[in-house]
Amino acid sequence: MFYPQEVVDQVIESNNIVDVIGSYVKLTKKGSTYFGLCPFHNEKTPSFSVTDNGNKQMYYCFGCHKGGTVLTFIMQYENVSYTDALKTLADRAGIALPKPDYSKEQEALSRKKDAILEVNKEAAKYFYHLLKSERGKNALKYLTDRGLSDETIRSFGLGYSDKYRDDLYQYMKSKGFSDDILKESGLFSIRETDTHDYFWNRVMFPIMDVRSKVIAFGGRVMGEGEPKYLNSPETICFNKRRTLYGLHAAKKHKGKELILCEGYMDVISLHQAGFTNAVASLGTALTEGHADILKRYTENVVISYDSDTAGRDAALRAIPKLRDAGLSVKVLDLSPYKDPDELIKAEGTDFFKERLKNAKNSLIFEIYCLQDQYDLNDPDEKTKFFNETAKRLSYIEDRLEQENYIQAVSKEFQIEYSMLKEKTKKLSLSNDNRQGFTTTPTIIKKKDETKTALAQCQKMVLSFLAEEPSFYDNVSDVIDESDFRLPPYDKAAQLLFSQLKAGKVNPNSIINAFEESDVQEEIADIFHDSFLKDISESDLQKTINDCIIRIRKSSIENQLDGVQDISRIVELKKEQERLQKFNIFGRKS
Ligand code: GTP
Ligand code: MN
Repeated sequence: MFYPQEVVDQVIESNNIVDVIGSYVKLTKKGSTYFGLCPFHNEKTPSFSVTDNGNKQMYYCFGCHKGGTVLTFIMQYENVSYTDALKTLADRAGIALPKPDYSKEQEALSRKKDAILEVNKEAAKYFYHLLKSERGKNALKYLTDRGLSDETIRSFGLGYSDKYRDDLYQYMKSKGFSDDILKESGLFSIRETDTHDYFWNRVMFPIMDVRSKVIAFGGRVMGEGEPKYLNSPETICFNKRRTLYGLHAAKKHKGKELILCEGYMDVISLHQAGFTNAVASLGTALTEGHADILKRYTENVVISYDSDTAGRDAALRAIPKLRDAGLSVKVLDLSPYKDPDELIKAEGTDFFKERLKNAKNSLIFEIYCLQDQYDLNDPDEKTKFFNETAKRLSYIEDRLEQENYIQAVSKEFQIEYSMLKEKTKKLSLSNDNRQGFTTTPTIIKKKDETKTALAQCQKMVLSFLAEEPSFYDNVSDVIDESDFRLPPYDKAAQLLFSQLKAGKVNPNSIINAFEESDVQEEIADIFHDSFLKDISESDLQKTINDCIIRIRKSSIENQLDGVQDISRIVELKKEQERLQKFNIFGRKS
């Protein structure tokens, strides 16, 4: 961040949240809280709340769960950056912001990024212009033959790169861009002896980030040819492993899931057919980075990869990554069509809708794939398949969830229920012994089923401490900020613990220490009253206690990995044992 925290705090404190939001949304006071129609989703009855008591100035929508501070609101409502939102609020309160204290490097980097984005924007405009000109006639025909409407071409900003090898370069030079920045953009190869464009004679797909800024391009040959698709090389603006094609549009979709496909054309066809929640990773296998980003926008992902073996294997590799990110995953069956694009073209929207409805739960999908490896006519193979299936089921920690899966799998694969159950339970017990973990408190799963349990534990403990600072001393005997290792809770813990030490909790200042609005929302949730409210007092104590134990245990496990010194290992092991009996509430006088 480029502004000192005190300045940010001052700007926020000088803008009463009810006044600011009240100028965008009609608010009505009920008790100590204001309500209005949520500006972030469609609704008829107000579920959007704004509170302005003390330093707890926040908003929260009970419908779509958006929430945060006055700063987050401006970012989300006006769709502007952190810095721009801060400027808006500073202006409003008549505060002169100091000259931002960029370090020289940061300043140079951010200037360079802006310049590259400028090059990309200009290039995208030029490619689009070419597509619509005489020179782009064939390219346009190629796209319309593939069923794309003018509107689709426009909204995805598709274009054409010409046959001349330095066509774009000449154009950009005429616009006054320097070789230095053109080189950095990845769109050109610039050498003393030879300078040429990276893309030529291709239909062009601008790749946009979530703010709809063009960060790179994909180019497809028209018809056959190698390579079929060419992507921009990575630049300081473009990280393939964290970019999802179509997300800038899909994030506006208000439905409950995102559809994950393989290719550009799949995304575009789906959007054109009304499935505006489709995204794709760009020719690379899905990464953890992709999964994290998906999780910011949804809880549910439907994988819609190609129906060939490669697509199926890619789905099997993607599933655990998505699950680890806390997403609930389904897999859609496209057969007999190769990809969503072909299916939509052949069968239309309703057919895809039906397939979407019938998408298989990812665990059931995995077991189908497993089944294919065995010859079920052979009794030995059949036993192996059953055992392997029970093993998968035994890894499900939550008992209720496991039971539901045993039922579903027994039905789907015609495995006798009681047998499958017995086998699974036996394996579950031995898993438990091996790991020696207390089971996840079920209440956590209920509250937010898809979040990974450890992340949820960290969030709950932070939320509890913010609400009940008097327990800080007890809690800090067992865990400190360094035990919170999952972002963004690691940083949130550091800030909260230091405020607790100083004796004054200020949620706003913690939330605003994060720059991205979706992360701010996640952090704001910690300070939202209702987060722990649904849990009864005694359950809450047990849950928080379990969470603390779990956080510390995981932190010890992590330390054990790197320790050589035997006496330190013994010490840590002893602490693990002691933790078992630990009860922060038992010790409160
Ligand atoms: P169409 O043939 O245009 O329908 O392509 P598609 O979208 O069906 O793509 P396909 O299933 O062949 O590949 C899926 C994705 O992988 C594409 O959208 C590209 O992102 C990527 N891809 C495919 N072929 C190549 C290639 O030759 N080079 C690179 N870098 N990426 C490719
Ligand atoms: Mn295709």
